[in-house]
Amino acid sequence: MKIGFIGCGTMGGTLAKRFAEAGHSVKVSARKKEDAEACAKQCGKNASAGSVKEAAAFGDIVVLAVPYSEISSALMNAGDLKGKILLDVTNALKPNSLELAVGYSTSAAEEISKIAPEAKVVKAFNTTFAKTVANPKFAEGKGAVFVASDHADAKKKVMDLANQIGFEPYDAGPLKNARLLEPLGVLAMELGFPGGMGTGIAFKLIKQ
Ligand SMILES: NC(=O)c1ccc[n+]([C@@H]2O[C@H](COP(=O)([O-])OP(=O)(O)OC[C@H]3O[C@@H](n4cnc5c(N)ncnc54)[C@H](OP(=O)(O)O)[C@@H]3O)[C@@H](O)[C@H]2O)c1
Repeated sequence: MKIGFIGCGTMGGTLAKRFAEAGHSVKVSARKKEDAEACAKQCGKNASAGSVKEAAAFGDIVVLAVPYSEISSALMNAGDLKGKILLDVTNALKPNSLELAVGYSTSAAEEISKIAPEAKVVKAFNTTFAKTVANPKFAEGKGAVFVASDHADAKKKVMDLANQIGFEPYDAGPLKNARLLEPLGVLAMELGFPGGMGTGIAFKLIKQ
């Protein structure tokens, strides 16, 4: 599959590397060309760098991995996303806080869908730290990746990707359920930072 990245920092760059290692073709981008080039180099032979527009045009899946405050500017530069899967991994936080910037009556994913209405927006990986994406091995089994979208085909493709890089994907329902997943992302950060558990943690579901 061809996967474009808008944002290739801690999270975007780590996902890009794992997807490239899994055999997908990735094209990464950032505002600074040299950031994208350095990231592509780290991702290996299946990766290249380009502008935001080039990465978006390249991907059947376009991963949006920028700070929430940058989504409008990033999407404005992305060009036509019609029919593309737009994988939103963002957590919408107020500056220097662990408070949700969008509150609980909408979600970053739904706001992104309003900005890019022709894209098939999928929310996933926001509850997953980059450290665990880089190395998803846990003594207790696989970490969970919750996937929400209004587009069944797009959701299935993202669930397959999560599975390929070592996570247990769960269908978390419609995109509106990003209102549940984003506070869960904040909980992960509360546990990881003020809670002192660090970023080598992930959620896991257990069944009877
Ligand atoms: N880090 C994690 O463990 C983690 C886990 C789950 C979710 N997330 C979410 O993932 C998103 C990215 O987090 P991060 O930790 O990867 O941040 P980061 O390390 O600061 O990376 C942000 C990336 O976005 C690029 N960028 C910023 N503004 C841009 C714009 N307008 N257009 C294009 N590219 C832009 C930056 O490069 P330039 O400065 O060169 O543009 C950089 O490559 C956030 O929403 C965060 O909440 C992070």
